[in-house]
Amino acid sequence: TTVEWEAASYDMGGHDTYMHKEISEQADAVDRVLRGRIDDRFSTVHLGGLNLDAREARTVRRVKILGCGTSYHAGLIGAQMIEELARIPADAEPASEFRYRNPVVDPDTLYIAVSQSGETYDVLAAVQELKRKGARVFGVVNVVGSAIARESDAGVYVHAGPEVCVVSTKCFTNTTVAFALLALHLGRIRDLSVADGKRIIEGLRKLPAQITEILAQEAEIKKIADQYADARSMMFIGRVRGYPVAREASLKLKEVSYIHAEAYPASELKHGPLALIEPALPTVAIVPDDDLLEKNRAAMEEIKARSGRILAVAHQEQEKADHTIVVPKNEDELDPILMGIPLQLLAYHTALALGRDIDKPRNLAKSVTVE
Ligand code: G6P
Repeated sequence: TTVEWEAASYDMGGHDTYMHKEISEQADAVDRVLRGRIDDRFSTVHLGGLNLDAREARTVRRVKILGCGTSYHAGLIGAQMIEELARIPADAEPASEFRYRNPVVDPDTLYIAVSQSGETYDVLAAVQELKRKGARVFGVVNVVGSAIARESDAGVYVHAGPEVCVVSTKCFTNTTVAFALLALHLGRIRDLSVADGKRIIEGLRKLPAQITEILAQEAEIKKIADQYADARSMMFIGRVRGYPVAREASLKLKEVSYIHAEAYPASELKHGPLALIEPALPTVAIVPDDDLLEKNRAAMEEIKARSGRILAVAHQEQEKADHTIVVPKNEDELDPILMGIPLQLLAYHTALALGRDIDKPRNLAKSVTVE
């Protein structure tokens, strides 16, 4: 069984759904996760709850991130940020898989549990098993004082504020920002230069205004959603930084619209899913302006050659795409934070067009507190 949904306890603030309210709140939410944490003097961040001194931080040889659902996807982005900025090998895994496969628990690994609610049973059980084996476990959690926050040795609060809609939007975004802070912090203790630290901090400071810019395109995104709402299935593709964005966007669409969606690394299309491409299967392509831009363009070309419709999320209009949602460019490492936001609106407006129960999709619960 599951935790009951307590919609009545929060005001909808003039929005028709909590999902819409929570999507709209993201500039403020990101502002909150940054507030008081940036240290311009040393081009780093302060994370009060970390309890990790510099010497200890330098002993971390590996980072393993555990979570479920959307939090797992935020962890995939977090792992890439930690590898890129701190150059520590990092990966994310569903907490449920981890706890059932008798993993090797390594004293030099920093384990990070990610959870909006802080109560998801599979995550909590993984944390307890890790602690029992003497591992160092951090929490990246939204709900203050929740079970996972209490059981972790230390952690970073996400400060997204209350999230009521069953599907996570603002907490996902804030979690990715919290990971950027953690990656910057670990990076600056290790080999990230002052100049790169400054560059990332400037990027972080731009996020709230850039989110507002994305949300201002809602009317356009709604029009696009209306055109794709008749699809029975959709493909989401991305590469490296874009791939976890594609996975989360695909999950979001499935959860609220009940349209089947599948996420694939763009590079893997030719190893199978190209067989599915036809006009009735639209593709959403995540196309950041980074060193993989040309590769992503080539993937779009392959889809076009098979008459597939393409919606691109990119930093500039994409010629190969039928529609492009242009998002503002940030630093390459931080682009994933922004690129999923228009696709939250796409999922929302698709679900709205199909008359779905947006805040409480069938068969799903906000927190799954049992196995
Ligand atoms: C449930 C929710 C998802 C959520 C997942 C993890 O399945 O429906 O939206 O991502 O749990 O929840 P957590 O609170 O641990 O982030």
